Amino acid sequence: MGLSQVSDQPESGRLLEAAPPQVTRALETLLASGEHELIRVDTDLTDELRYGRRWVIVTERRAIVMSVIGDVVAEASIDELAFTRADALVGGGELTIERKSAPTIRVTYSSTEAVKFSEVARGLEQLRKGEDFLIRATLDRIRCDRCGRLLPEKNSLCPACVRRFATLGRIVSYMAPHRWRAVTLAVASVAMTLAELAPPLVTRRLIDDVMAPVAEPIPPVDERLVLLGSLVMMLAGVRLFSWTAELVHGWTNTWLSARITADIRAQLYRRLEMLSLQFYDKRSTGSLISRVSRDSGTLQEFLIDGLPYVIINALMMVGILGLMLHISWKVTLLILIPVPLMGVWSWLFWKRMRRLFHKYQQGWSKLSTRLNESLNGIRVVKAFAQEQREIETFDRANEDLADVSVRTAMNWNVLWATMSVISGSGMLIIWYFGGREVLGDELTLGDLLALYSYMWMVYGPLEWFSEVNTWMTRAFAGAERIFEVIDTPPEAYDDPKARKIPRIEGAVRFSGVTFGYDKSKPVLHDINLDVQPGEMIGLVGKSGVGKTTTVNLVCRFYDVDHGGIEIDGVDIRDIRLEDLRRQIGIVPQDPVLFSGSIADNICYGRPDASLSQIMDAARAANAHQFILAKGDGYDTRIGERGVGLSGGERQRIAIARAILHNPRVLILDEATSSVDVETEKQIQESLGRLVKGRTTFAIAHRLSTLRNADRLVVLSNGRVMEVGSHEELLEVDGHFAELVRLQQEVAQIIGVSE
Ligand SMILES: Nc1ncnc2c1ncn2[C@@H]1O[C@H](COP(=O)(O)OP(=O)(O)OP(=O)(O)O)[C@@H](O)[C@H]1O
Ligand SMILES: [Mg+2]
Repeated sequence: MGLSQVSDQPESGRLLEAAPPQVTRALETLLASGEHELIRVDTDLTDELRYGRRWVIVTERRAIVMSVIGDVVAEASIDELAFTRADALVGGGELTIERKSAPTIRVTYSSTEAVKFSEVARGLEQLRKGEDFLIRATLDRIRCDRCGRLLPEKNSLCPACVRRFATLGRIVSYMAPHRWRAVTLAVASVAMTLAELAPPLVTRRLIDDVMAPVAEPIPPVDERLVLLGSLVMMLAGVRLFSWTAELVHGWTNTWLSARITADIRAQLYRRLEMLSLQFYDKRSTGSLISRVSRDSGTLQEFLIDGLPYVIINALMMVGILGLMLHISWKVTLLILIPVPLMGVWSWLFWKRMRRLFHKYQQGWSKLSTRLNESLNGIRVVKAFAQEQREIETFDRANEDLADVSVRTAMNWNVLWATMSVISGSGMLIIWYFGGREVLGDELTLGDLLALYSYMWMVYGPLEWFSEVNTWMTRAFAGAERIFEVIDTPPEAYDDPKARKIPRIEGAVRFSGVTFGYDKSKPVLHDINLDVQPGEMIGLVGKSGVGKTTTVNLVCRFYDVDHGGIEIDGVDIRDIRLEDLRRQIGIVPQDPVLFSGSIADNICYGRPDASLSQIMDAARAANAHQFILAKGDGYDTRIGERGVGLSGGERQRIAIARAILHNPRVLILDEATSSVDVETEKQIQESLGRLVKGRTTFAIAHRLSTLRNADRLVVLSNGRVMEVGSHEELLEVDGHFAELVRLQQEVAQIIGVSE
């Protein structure tokens, strides 16, 4: 296998990042035949030796640390390794490769690369111990596989490698349902082009036949007056025609592009709603929102302005050149002399401008990220009295942006003015050489003026043509980002093979479940649990042990890595997702409310519920009283994310929401953590009635909350340590007893009796 052809192949158990050519070349000469790269990754930090970014390469025989220009900085053969490990430091980490008899090799990296280097350490340890080499992490792609450039965001697409024609084809395919409008648009475009081409021809006749007649003998004035009238009428006709064409063009175009982007946006949003949580874990919400808003906006702009511009001008260029050559091929060729110069200049021009625009964009995105974060976190900022610091940080970003704007504008002016000088030279050529032709009677005055008008029609678009490329790239990059989401496989909502289970009995069985958000770091190991229908299970364990993760798996928010979960004896991967989720009610740890009325929020899962049903649910959740105490009762509006309610009030509304949903499996994840003991007791009572007949998973740190549970499951280190009733577990005197003791001690210290 040629080294340069190796790319990211996580599935084959390797960890290979696209390297710059110097590194690839150096490796080609360095590696012996039969020696393969198993790992090739780079660090994002420079070290104190100033070698710049480093590359770490691991083969079956050795580990190599290489500089970006391909110099070997350090090398260790697998045989001489003592051990390898990756340690977390502040803001980053260090890979330590200790050797038996030579100095230790250290490579530092930032925290974003920590996962990657922990895999490197693991891989090296596997090789040292002679185990099977297996890398389990998938790499975040930060560089383009094809060109090696840094990507604008992790796992995104490379703007430089956008597949333009494929993307264009795909955009155009959205026109298919509106094909008659598209045809109208095309006809209008051609009509507009023709209308642009006609006036210089008419003025040519105005001069040559009416004002300064070239025909011998000169026709009488009366005759010429008639001709003048009809030619002016003709001009008026052309204007009218072009006006109509423009109107039709404008309408159709606006309609079509608005329609197409709306279609794309709708499809995008539909897909975003259907994507798995795994997809969301990897991406920032901000970048997804920008795909719906900004990328689709750029695309629309391009469809309205850019694409018609290109098409019309390309058509026009052909027509004009034909006409010019027909009038005088000699002068036409002379006029075209500056064209290549303009081409070269505008290429250079845009290359420079693109860089500046890119910086400008980055400036903007930095500024808006800052803004977004500090405004969202304004409570924290105020609580720590850090307003001044936030202002300073913002000012810095703002100043940077202003600098780049000024630089962009300056460059723009200079470059643009130069362009005008070059195109102005065409004017000199036409007057001088065209004038000579006229004097030599080779050309009429009308011909010259027609050529003159046409010249500007050619030059104008030429100045912009190379920019269209940038424009197109930007719009298409946006379109590809959109298509990337659209093409991501959604959750299996409409799997035709899925089993329909209209009523779940509630038997839940975990068999050998292993799961990790990051495949290389399992959170849950080999969980086995058999839950009877109607049983109430309390999940207990330290923070971060995997309680929420366990219930996430029951909802099939994530699929298990090994083993399986069965409900009523059917693997949940085979149950129709809708049936599954419809029958599970969850009160999440951090309940999310939507802006709207309290009643709307309670009946979110059952929009058809009557007000009395809503009130019953609220009573059961002990929320009725406080809701009535609000100004508008159940119609009280709450703000975004439930602003305007206390934490405990929010929790009770979430409980009411789950109760109204009337699920067969109820999940309470710290459902009453934010309410006082008294209120909790009341909720417990009503929940006690509610959990009858349905399988319940309850998670709580306050262990007294789980007294009603039939069985408690104690998790530790991602494994089930103990299972049994409250009393049984106290008797065993293990983990649970320890937890209870700790809580009682704390309670005594602060003088609370539970
Ligand atoms: N979306 C996620 N992506 C990556 N890691 C995650 C994600 N959610 C949780 N984790 C990690 O998985 C582990 C278990 O998290 P989980 O939320 O299940 O803990 P928990 O037992 O519910 O803790 P707590 O009592 O604090 O709610 C933690 O180490 C956490 O950092
Ligand atoms: Mg949790």
